[in-house]
Amino acid sequence: MNVVAIVGSLRKASYNMMLAEFIQKRYAEKITVEILSLHDIPMYNQDEENNPPQSVIDFKAKVKAADAVLWVTPEYNASIPGVLGNVIDWLSRVDKVMIGKPSIVMGASMGNLGTVKAQMHLRDILFAQGLGSPVLQGNEVYIGAAHTKFDEAGNLTDEATVKFLDQVIDNFVAWVK
Ligand code: FNR
Repeated sequence: MNVVAIVGSLRKASYNMMLAEFIQKRYAEKITVEILSLHDIPMYNQDEENNPPQSVIDFKAKVKAADAVLWVTPEYNASIPGVLGNVIDWLSRVDKVMIGKPSIVMGASMGNLGTVKAQMHLRDILFAQGLGSPVLQGNEVYIGAAHTKFDEAGNLTDEATVKFLDQVIDNFVAWVK
């Protein structure tokens, strides 16, 4: 099963990127995860949507070819970060590559609520008309106090969280199949 991961942080030491990389490594025998970079995605401009920049064409092609999308979102101001909203705008227009594409949503933050508000918004957005992505229900991964759960090498070391993730990934694979 081929999964693309879209991570809503450009930060080098991002906990959300650590989470995506942890999933990529730990479940490599169950799913192949390609983490897509948002660094080269320009600001969405409706004037360009029919003739988008090459980076957007390539990004959309990878999403289109994937069996499913893993969204890993930080929480900014009680919602999703702008970089994530921006790429969603590109994905939602012209070639609507998210329609029917299964998604799973998770996120990490240093606060106790672990991106719950951002994920609520993201789930709503993924159901919107231009996206039309079925999202795995239940299996909600809110990693709060992230600074206490990853080590300096970026490994997720919190045993209870890892055990829960093992179950979530099994549920995700079964659901997508
Ligand atoms: C934040 N942060 C934050 N955290 C939270 O739990 N709820 C929030 O509403 C916000 N708002 C917010 C706004 C902005 C502009 C920034 C920069 C940060 C803190 C945020 O969760 C923290 O920086 C995470 O570490 C960001 O995720 P990455 O970059 O580590 O993946």
